[in-house]
Amino acid sequence: MHSFTYHGDDLYCEDVPLHVIASEIGTPFYLYSRKTLEDHFRVFDGAFERIPHLTCYSVKANSNLGVLKVFADLGAGVDVVSGGEIFRAVTAGISPQKIVYSGVGKSRQELEYALNTDILMFNVESSQELELLGAVAQSAGRKARIALRINPDIDPKTHPYISTGLKKNKFGIKIEEALQAYTRAVTTTHFEIAGVACHIGSQITEVSPFVDTLRRVKQFVQKLSTQGIRIEYLDLGGGLGITYEDEQPPHPSEYADAIIREMDGLPCTLILEPGRVIVGNAGILVTKVLYTKQTDEKKFVVVDAAMNDLVRPSLYEAYHDIQPVAKRQGPQVTADIVGPICETGDFIARQREVPEFVSGDCIAVMSAGAYGFSMSSNYNSRPRVPEVLVDNTRYFVVRRRESYEDLVRLETVPEEL
Ligand code: LLP
Repeated sequence: MHSFTYHGDDLYCEDVPLHVIASEIGTPFYLYSRKTLEDHFRVFDGAFERIPHLTCYSVKANSNLGVLKVFADLGAGVDVVSGGEIFRAVTAGISPQKIVYSGVGKSRQELEYALNTDILMFNVESSQELELLGAVAQSAGRKARIALRINPDIDPKTHPYISTGLKKNKFGIKIEEALQAYTRAVTTTHFEIAGVACHIGSQITEVSPFVDTLRRVKQFVQKLSTQGIRIEYLDLGGGLGITYEDEQPPHPSEYADAIIREMDGLPCTLILEPGRVIVGNAGILVTKVLYTKQTDEKKFVVVDAAMNDLVRPSLYEAYHDIQPVAKRQGPQVTADIVGPICETGDFIARQREVPEFVSGDCIAVMSAGAYGFSMSSNYNSRPRVPEVLVDNTRYFVVRRRESYEDLVRLETVPEEL
């Protein structure tokens, strides 16, 4: 279910033709459909309505304020991993009492900021972090609501860079150590034990790793309960995959049914941290063909977006579908779609059957709503591209294009130099 469809030969987002936006604001740009964002959130959240739960959208997937505001209006919570993400969430109107904070390297300053913001829960990832949080809470005269993120040692069967719940990964605390940490924390006055958390990875296309994880976490919660430690929130993390090419991930309702079945009898509120499944297919990157060139080996289509705008193909060899903004008749050719950056690793797509694009054609890079703009950079001193949100027949630039002045705004050249 997404809102990028052809009307005749022209690709639209909801009721706005993409070529209109391209000619009015130039390329490249990210484009998000408000309707799809809302539908995806509602479908996901609605799938859990039979049980007490809180859907905490994972801000790292797409942290634009306009996007966060859409979720804030739907009553969403969020999962954050930095002080900056807390700031964004609160600025967009997310209730602090619906913020959960994960991450292996929270600094003292970030812990203080989160504590003063009165967030729902810290997902603590090490004994040392717990110790520092205790000290911070004590000096602030506040209680920190905590969950320990346990490492369930489950293989999510996804790309190794985005697997997080295996023993060899840096995330979480092993179960035996977590038990000791809980028993210590329960006697400490500046902690309030709120939950148990985990997150096993991303772009997971099967239900079984989630069910296996939940089984382990459930056993752990029951063990804590026999020791008199009551857990209010069970945070299962995010990770549900989407279709980029031909993956067939479970529908959120199938995922929810399996989880709800496994939750049976557990007196906890379930927290979920979906990112990609909500925003991934709600956004695209629109880019323009600058040149085409034919070498002895292959055909290259050089576009105005690059790995600094969308790093996923370069970093994970990720697949993003390529669609023409205006369909054209004629033969298909096999080509690499590459950016202007001075690296061979700068590609958007390789060895693809595409229409015979010519200079000036616009191309839609599909499924780019998650980990697209949020992972972009200024490499090669390229100003970051605008983000646009479509709402029915209207569109709003929710982040303007950076200027050359923006590139150097924070830099100073000392007089002595
Ligand atoms: N919760 C925690 C603690 C996480 O670390 C993540 C993602 C999520 C939730 C959301 O996961 P999702 O539902 O989006 O799968 N940059 C990579 C993905 C990195 C995911 C990092 N953690 C990519 O472009 O594929």
